[in-house]
Amino acid sequence: MSESDRSDGVKRLFADTVRETMDGAAYGAWRTITAPEAVSLVFGFPYPDALPNEAIGDAFDVVLETDHEDALQYAGGDYADAITNTVVEQSRSRGIECTAEEVHLTNGATHAIDTVAQTFLDPDDTIAVEAPSFMGALRLFRNYGVDIEGYELDENGLDVDAFAADLAAREAADEPLPKLLYTVPDFQNPTGVTLSADRRDRLLELAETYDFLIVEDDPYGQLRFDGSTPPPIKSLDDTGRVIRIDTFSKTIAPGIRTGWVVADEAIVRELERINAGGENVLTLGAVARYCEAVDFEAGIDELCAGYRKRRDRMLDALDERMPPGASWSEPEGGFFVWLEFPDGIDAEELLPTAAEEGVTFLPGTYFYHDDAGSNQARLSFSYATPDEIEDGIAALARATHKAMSPVEASDD
Ligand SMILES: Cc1ncc(COP(=O)(O)O)c(C=O)c1O
Repeated sequence: MSESDRSDGVKRLFADTVRETMDGAAYGAWRTITAPEAVSLVFGFPYPDALPNEAIGDAFDVVLETDHEDALQYAGGDYADAITNTVVEQSRSRGIECTAEEVHLTNGATHAIDTVAQTFLDPDDTIAVEAPSFMGALRLFRNYGVDIEGYELDENGLDVDAFAADLAAREAADEPLPKLLYTVPDFQNPTGVTLSADRRDRLLELAETYDFLIVEDDPYGQLRFDGSTPPPIKSLDDTGRVIRIDTFSKTIAPGIRTGWVVADEAIVRELERINAGGENVLTLGAVARYCEAVDFEAGIDELCAGYRKRRDRMLDALDERMPPGASWSEPEGGFFVWLEFPDGIDAEELLPTAAEEGVTFLPGTYFYHDDAGSNQARLSFSYATPDEIEDGIAALARATHKAMSPVEASDD
């Protein structure tokens, strides 16, 4: 039997939801958009100097020495145990009153989203998302065979009025209501917008009225450069309808793969039961030790200074260079600017020209549950240097000008 016959034979054994999503790109496929000479505005990665290699190395040394007997055992030692308290304290400092029993540790926020999806979603359930939304979450939700309903955002985050109107219409028409609303309220990926405080209150009311849970995914909330911070939705939750997801990926480093859920104890119990395989206790111990050894808040201030510089350069360059008809978000924190090209420009078609000019970005279509977003793009300012960002936006403006006047461009 040839290899392809054999793999065709195996295909029929995959789960329905796997077969249905098989031709879709794999999680992380966007990382393959590269052009070696071009400035990459693709990655939502921290810039290299933001990563605390030395302090993390020291933390591992201390854990291995101090918890000598247990650091490498299944359950880990005292430092691994201490991470839950670290998370509880950090949550409290953001107004989220929780206990150790209300915390579930994960290998990053993505793992947390997957565990929540696994715990709550049945095939054909409905899940509500922002449109656009974090593409990693969209891909995960598709794995569960659910109907994904998208709701637009404006400069104040999710359009809660439109969401409420749709919920009412669904109820009246006896159509399925969502079980979960997945939202990234602060410096949303990909738009950079933040959900206003009054809309947070309103979402909690809607969750009560229409009986759904709010999954609040907040990796960027601490990376605010301007303005004031609305309270986390979880901090306003007195009915247990909010499942909060957080991560150290953006405040320490993505490579440590450490995230968590804060939710009602009854939910956390089920997450723990569903999520087999145990925790990476050595790393958890090192993260706990790192948080004990460094001034975490001062570290965040430093990160914010680094990201603010990058954001400012990107916004200034967009102002200076982009042709009329283009518009973009002006985030007060986080990693991303969301760009809308002038009418008639398809972001995916523009990408090869943009790469030739010296920049890459992620086309907007990646971030929708349907086929919307063709003239939008996510520009990440988190990874490149400020000078590279300026060059990248200049290249993007040149490519956009060319696409707007293809005849002139071909005369060049
Ligand atoms: C909204 C959102 N959630 C989750 C993640 C992934 O977090 P983690 O690296 O902890 O899996 C990201 C970005 O990488 C994100 O933008």
